[in-house]
Amino acid sequence: MEIANSVALVTGANGGLGQYYVEALRSRGATKIYAAARNPNLLADLVATDPNTIIPVALDVTNEESVNQAAAQCQDVTLLINNAAVGFNQGLIAASDLSQARMEMEVNYFGTLMMCRAFASVLKQIGGGAIVNMVSMVARVNLPFNGSYSASKAATLSLTQGVRAELAAQGTLVIAVLPATIDIGMGKAYPDPKVSPEEVVNDALQAAIDGVEDVYPGEQAKQMAAQLLKDPKAFEKAIAVMLPSSTH
Ligand SMILES: NC(=O)c1ccc[n+]([C@@H]2O[C@H](COP(=O)([O-])OP(=O)(O)OC[C@H]3O[C@@H](n4cnc5c(N)ncnc54)[C@H](OP(=O)(O)O)[C@@H]3O)[C@@H](O)[C@H]2O)c1
Repeated sequence: MEIANSVALVTGANGGLGQYYVEALRSRGATKIYAAARNPNLLADLVATDPNTIIPVALDVTNEESVNQAAAQCQDVTLLINNAAVGFNQGLIAASDLSQARMEMEVNYFGTLMMCRAFASVLKQIGGGAIVNMVSMVARVNLPFNGSYSASKAATLSLTQGVRAELAAQGTLVIAVLPATIDIGMGKAYPDPKVSPEEVVNDALQAAIDGVEDVYPGEQAKQMAAQLLKDPKAFEKAIAVMLPSSTH
């Protein structure tokens, strides 16, 4: 697909990477960009940069009514970018209870799934289009100090593969983006190395143009993917030492 003249919807557009998606879409000539956020007031500055192109949309991806309302409002979408997520840096055992693990599944897995379901028919009617799901390298190997987030992203990767299979017949390209640490948002507190947000969104949009299904932006993610291919058990063991501080 082409980004120029596309109509995109970006979830979590008020967040770190979400704003970079909106700006990259705009600079590549998207005709309309629905910038979605739980609180659309937080989008005022972004919308003000190009009010003719950037349309604010109220959207909580965990609320089915809100998701269906967004789909009804945005019937011309050709490119859906499921970027919204939460991550709490909790261990699976070390966490005091399951509330944050459940929230990670609600937003990252069920939220993405609800968006794919609501927009599948919109994309069918425009002849295919594309879905970009922001996954993470930790979908492929559990990072123990962020264990429940990793599990939610593993579920998101699996749903991406399943949705891809189900929507292939209608010509919808379904892309998984799997960066390691990004120098933005939830990656800010992490140590180097980090990939720049510009590189992540450029690689994701280029994948939509080139028809690439799985994207590993940045050197760190590419090296991790190569290590996983070479010796997955050795890589799991190397990452297993990164424990939550309260695990003994
Ligand atoms: N940063 C990294 O190092 C990194 C690495 C790999 C993958 N990723 C993935 O890249 C994406 C963007 O990450 P980021 O670092 O930019 O995250 P971020 O700065 O924490 O932004 C997350 C966005 O998601 C929104 N959101 C959370 N819950 C929502 C809900 N229920 N409904 C709608 N929107 C909701 C947030 O909105 P509110 O302001 O309303 O909370 C915020 O706009 C995520 O999918 C993340 O998992 C990030």
